Amino acid sequence: MTKSQLSTKHVLGIKYLTVNDINLIFETAENFKEVINRPIKKVPSLRDVTVANLFFENSTRTRISFELAEKRLSADVVNFSASSSSVKKGETLLDTVNNILSMKVDMVVMRHPAPGAPAFLANHIDANIINAGDGTHEHPTQALLDAFSMREAVGNLKGKHIAIFGDILHSRVALSNIFCLQKLGAKVRVCGPPTLIPKYINELGVEVSYDVRESLEWCDVANVLRIQLERQDIKYFPSLREYAQYFGINKALLDSLNSEVVIMHPGPINRGVEITSDVADSDQSIILQQVENGVAIRMAILFLLAAKR
Ligand code: NCD
Repeated sequence: MTKSQLSTKHVLGIKYLTVNDINLIFETAENFKEVINRPIKKVPSLRDVTVANLFFENSTRTRISFELAEKRLSADVVNFSASSSSVKKGETLLDTVNNILSMKVDMVVMRHPAPGAPAFLANHIDANIINAGDGTHEHPTQALLDAFSMREAVGNLKGKHIAIFGDILHSRVALSNIFCLQKLGAKVRVCGPPTLIPKYINELGVEVSYDVRESLEWCDVANVLRIQLERQDIKYFPSLREYAQYFGINKALLDSLNSEVVIMHPGPINRGVEITSDVADSDQSIILQQVENGVAIRMAILFLLAAKR
């Protein structure tokens, strides 16, 4: 039986969630998925709750997804993006946030380039904090929507083979996926060029492979990640063209496998680099279902955190 409350006041990382928390978020998201497919998509659950979306780093789908989730729960929403704010004038993070909180904000959704920034906030202010991606560290809501979408595609994840392809070193989606999938009992493997696999990977208890074909044969689901060029200050591989040739996933490769693999990608996709268009847009791909599920997952998290206030 799933306990009906989260064990935590914040969602800072999958590392800090229990298996019960994850299952509770999934059960709640299933209900909200039904709500957002109704003609009237709005429920009053977060009326009188004010949520601030603080985005110190670029984002399209995560920011819109959170904003939609908040609005469908009838929350009051304020948006902040660093590029157009006083951060550019030299204000500290804590000053910026304290100013926003003086306006009586109950929950903060935060994306920040520095790992640990949401945890820092959680130690200093009273609002519920949700990490929407902190540098190369964690992206818990993405991992939850990924695991939720995998469950829809292949059923219970216990014992399932999930492979994560690409830039494991710089991707917060990779780390959060590893934590989440392991908690749910899946077998996890990472696959990419050796330079993009972190040295500490063995401590995480995942398999490592440098062979894309063999990993595709092994897995039930392939979660394909973008090369995080904006986080790479040195060259990790000779060229994008070479990367695409050795590590890219294309239709001919998929069609030559013995079984059909479910293809996922958190976006933004670099078409023709890690994945070709005919794969991204194929029936094997559940990329747009991931986006749809993102709203339901974020509604579930906001709802469950509000219940703890
Ligand atoms: C990811 C992110 O920002 O970490 N995207 C997302 O949230 N949908 C992945 C990425 O940027 O490659």
